Amino acid sequence: MTKYPIGVFISGRGSNLKSIINACSELSFPGKISIIFSDNPDAKGIELAYENNIDAISLDVNDFKDKNDFEEEILKLIEPYNLKLVCLAGYMKILSKRFIDKFPGKIINIHPSLLPKYKGLDTHRRAIENKDSVSGCTVHYVNENLDDGEIVVQKEVKIDSNDTELTLADKVLKEEHLIYPEAIKLLLKK
Ligand code: GAR
Repeated sequence: MTKYPIGVFISGRGSNLKSIINACSELSFPGKISIIFSDNPDAKGIELAYENNIDAISLDVNDFKDKNDFEEEILKLIEPYNLKLVCLAGYMKILSKRFIDKFPGKIINIHPSLLPKYKGLDTHRRAIENKDSVSGCTVHYVNENLDDGEIVVQKEVKIDSNDTELTLADKVLKEEHLIYPEAIKLLLKK
């Protein structure tokens, strides 16, 4: 089985990154993580790179003149990896159109809501406040707008009357960990 090189971009905890690392360890999974990029040098997820012997790069936007220079540096550093897919996994910056155009149809993101509902933050709180009966998570192609772009995979999660923001977050996150590797597999096999 060919293992195509993928990049994973994170900003924090890295639990989705962990689910992708686990999936990649299976022989039948068509991808391997070649590079992990973090825009936050203190991201907990970056430790997973070291534990799993995966190349990692961490850059702080505040060390650059502007976002353009920051992205140029990322592009320069990831270029040698020849990535077939870039997976945003809790990466909390919006990529510019210039960056996205360098990877046409190859950048995806996971978001903890049934998009197009609840873009941005506090998705679970908003779903509960609105008394929704279902929430869920979405893997979608990335464009230059926040949590926007064509949907690849979506999974619904039932909201129970006693769910809190935390219990719902937990239930949705479990599904995120399943659908993200599934979506990656689907796209790599295309
Ligand atoms: C995940 O719930 C992911 O869906 C969300 O950030 C969390 C990252 O957790 N992403 C977004 O909200 C994107 N708009 P993780 O670092 O444990 O994977």
